[in-house]
Amino acid sequence: MTTTDFSPGGPGLAQQRRIVTEIPGPASRELFERRQRSVARGLSHVLPVFVTAAGGGVVLDVDGNSLIDFGSGIAVTSVGNSAELVVDRVTEQVARFTHTCFMVVPYEGYLAVCEELARVTPGDHDKRSALFNSGAEAVENAVKIARLATGRNAVVVFDHAYHGRTNLTMAMTAKNMPYKQGFGPFAGEVYRVPMAYPFRWPGGPAACRADALDVITSLIHTQVGEQNVAAVVIEPIQGEGGFVVPPDGFLPGLAAFCRDHGILLIADEIQTGFCRTGDWFACDHERVVPDLITTAKGIAGGLPLAGVTGRAELMDTVHPGGLGGTFGGNPVACAAAIGAIETMGKEDLPAAARRIGEVMLPRLRKLAEDHPVIGDVRGRGAMLAIELVRPGTLVPDPETTARVAKACHAAGLVLLTCGTFGNVLRFLPPLVIGEELLSEGITILEEAFAGSDTRGARSATGG
Ligand SMILES: Cc1ncc(COP(=O)(O)O)c(C=O)c1O
Repeated sequence: MTTTDFSPGGPGLAQQRRIVTEIPGPASRELFERRQRSVARGLSHVLPVFVTAAGGGVVLDVDGNSLIDFGSGIAVTSVGNSAELVVDRVTEQVARFTHTCFMVVPYEGYLAVCEELARVTPGDHDKRSALFNSGAEAVENAVKIARLATGRNAVVVFDHAYHGRTNLTMAMTAKNMPYKQGFGPFAGEVYRVPMAYPFRWPGGPAACRADALDVITSLIHTQVGEQNVAAVVIEPIQGEGGFVVPPDGFLPGLAAFCRDHGILLIADEIQTGFCRTGDWFACDHERVVPDLITTAKGIAGGLPLAGVTGRAELMDTVHPGGLGGTFGGNPVACAAAIGAIETMGKEDLPAAARRIGEVMLPRLRKLAEDHPVIGDVRGRGAMLAIELVRPGTLVPDPETTARVAKACHAAGLVLLTCGTFGNVLRFLPPLVIGEELLSEGITILEEAFAGSDTRGARSATGG
């Protein structure tokens, strides 16, 4: 039994911030007590308010507060929560059948999602897709496919990478605490190289592209051997690791190196994909065409679905039965994806993401001028971040980051942090957020910086 009333969410919700209790309020605190008695401690929360409804750019809680959403459930509800076409398609599907398992008796919705993936992902070559439940599962399967297709074992990943919480994806993820600590031993044949991180590049941002390509290719040559590498796996803009945007030319350079050595380039677009960065996929920005691409998060408007899409000749090297899973490509999740992708096209959400960037970036840059604790402002489209450091240095400042986040939460803004050093505030509003709400959210952030003397800390969510 829940203690909450049913109230529908979706775009019809009043698009306003309304704070009627402290955050979290008494009803949320009561549910949190219950949570402590039944849910494992290993799951943490950014903001322990319990939700009753959400839609557009707001999240409603059990105390009647309406919070501005700058998190989208970690880059998932790009089309908004309970978006109209998602609800329509899901409602229709859930009443017809909920599951057969695609590997037992197939259904058309799965095909429709794979056709859409072929249409919207980078490159106009012949493609095939396979569907899964989570981002981590998609990454695992992309690596399986790459190993089989190339007959090679090694996988190259980057500093600050985040690819998930399964055994192989933990090995591929860079950050130890909290994602890996105590959970080893990890999968083998995973090699890590530096990421082209302009703000922290030892020779400075101008040297970053060329230096990084030199270091990476030389490490692969000397420590792994190009002929042993099945795939280089990269987030075109890193997510959990700190919204690290590599310099222009880096991804095309990396793609050329891979091509020259028969190494597959796997773009992990789980966080960047589906319009988030102002293009359908972040790789589109520089016309990079990966051999395989992993998707999840924004694909299905909040329902669990993930995909691996790639060149037909690579994907089809896998023998029948080599890929799959009981729930992968569940018909209800597929219906949601069709509704979400239709919404992205109809409402031109790449343009909406670019507009969010145009509104936010000047204000974030101004904020950085006023507050030297902000060392870097970066991102693209509606995937934006600021990195906090001791002024004038590269020394991370996770304490101020946590204080600012906490002050924003208290004022009714759902805001996430990230970064290897926990010193990055990331902004991921739903792409359908109204401009007034967006502006109000930034004002809350500005006010939090102006009076950032609150005390507090947060724990990582991972995503
Ligand atoms: C780039 C990237 N890859 C993989 C994952 C793992 O996805 P999931 O949490 O759905 O397993 C995430 C999640 O945040 C991600 O951002």
